[in-house]
Amino acid sequence: MTERLTRGFVVTDRQPGCPFDPSQRLTHMARQEEPTRVPVYEPRFGEADTVILSRYADVRAALGDTRLQYGHLPLPAGEPRTFMPGFPPDHHGAEHIRLRRMMAAAFAPKRIRTLGPLVDKVLAERLDVMEAAGPGVDLVAAYAVAVPSIVIGELLGVPASMHQDFHSLSAGVVNFASSPAEYFAHLGKFGAYMKDLVAEIRRHPTDGLITELMEGRSGDIGDAEIVGLTSALVVAGHETTAAMIALGALALLERPDQRALLLDESVSTADAVEELLRYLSISGVFPRVANEDITIGEWPVKAGERVLVSLLTANRDPRLVPDGADRLDLTREPVQHMAFGFGTHQCPGQHLARLELQLALPALFHRFPELRLAVPADELTFHGDGANVYGVEGLPVAW
Ligand code: HEM
Repeated sequence: MTERLTRGFVVTDRQPGCPFDPSQRLTHMARQEEPTRVPVYEPRFGEADTVILSRYADVRAALGDTRLQYGHLPLPAGEPRTFMPGFPPDHHGAEHIRLRRMMAAAFAPKRIRTLGPLVDKVLAERLDVMEAAGPGVDLVAAYAVAVPSIVIGELLGVPASMHQDFHSLSAGVVNFASSPAEYFAHLGKFGAYMKDLVAEIRRHPTDGLITELMEGRSGDIGDAEIVGLTSALVVAGHETTAAMIALGALALLERPDQRALLLDESVSTADAVEELLRYLSISGVFPRVANEDITIGEWPVKAGERVLVSLLTANRDPRLVPDGADRLDLTREPVQHMAFGFGTHQCPGQHLARLELQLALPALFHRFPELRLAVPADELTFHGDGANVYGVEGLPVAW
């Protein structure tokens, strides 16, 4: 295959007519005996031949192998350098472990559970606003994007005076589909805002993670690293959760039988959310590079070669789900899916994302039992090939 692809294609390459299923191209790759090697463009590192891993066992082996690293890579001449101290995906080894420790307490399941009342409050307020604006809204803007952005803002302790900019800048920075120039311009603006935010909280401490980091509760960390760490939380935690709320709602609108199971509580909400995460697999992982000649599963990967994994096809591998992996089935026993990745970079925000999804989806359908799509499903558009996270552009609904 010689076609030039951008890195988002492993995430967003879906079946025409069925926005939830992997495209024939990806399915074909997953069925091959050997991984595909193809030139792939990545905004931060340019174009390089890339090994695409798409089967469950290969993806798990790759993500569990610390000889495949993201960060500290030689950049092609002229490419803008965006390495950020404190930004966990850019780090590995002892430095990475230290940064993960800084976040561990704030994202531990027990601590995240205490955020339930806050998330419920945010959801109820958004649903009230929707109801007042109704009987129709764009569910992406009115609900899906708003909820995670308010929750992350609260978690970090963003002061009320900086709320508005926080929500618009954090929404803009996750648009990986933009051109490299737009992407880096946005990243620059966002980075400057986060620097100001940390400086403001240094002057006037608030209740939240940024102040806790400054107090050194999890170890020594300087303000530059706090900027990198908290920027990662905003970037990685915002669009992912928003995309899952919107696509999850769409999948349930398209499958009234599954929606009924969730709402009459004949399945556990937690299990239903795991199945939605597996079935939709909205995320890719940051590209990895081998730092020596290695073997992943049975496959040789040369030092310096780039590797990308498809979580979508991995999570639909018949060896993981023998009974209809391409079917959404909320009654399924949860499997060890990798929608949050695997290995040392596995998503630290997964318990927060689960909490938001477990509360947001039932709350939406309980408030609006008559919720329906306001346009034919085939008129919806989905993030294109450059995107890092799969999602629906807008979701007009009515009740
Ligand atoms: C990493 C998915 C929500 C923060 C990751 C990775 C995946 C992922 C697949 C691994 C990337 C890799 O290995 O290269 C998701 C999905 C979410 C979600 C599907 C929602 C449904 C969140 C939330 C936060 C968050 C709510 C925080 C508020 C992060 C961070 C990393 C990460 C900081 C980088 C970790 C590291 O490099 O050590 N996420 N995520 N994510 N996620 Fe999430």
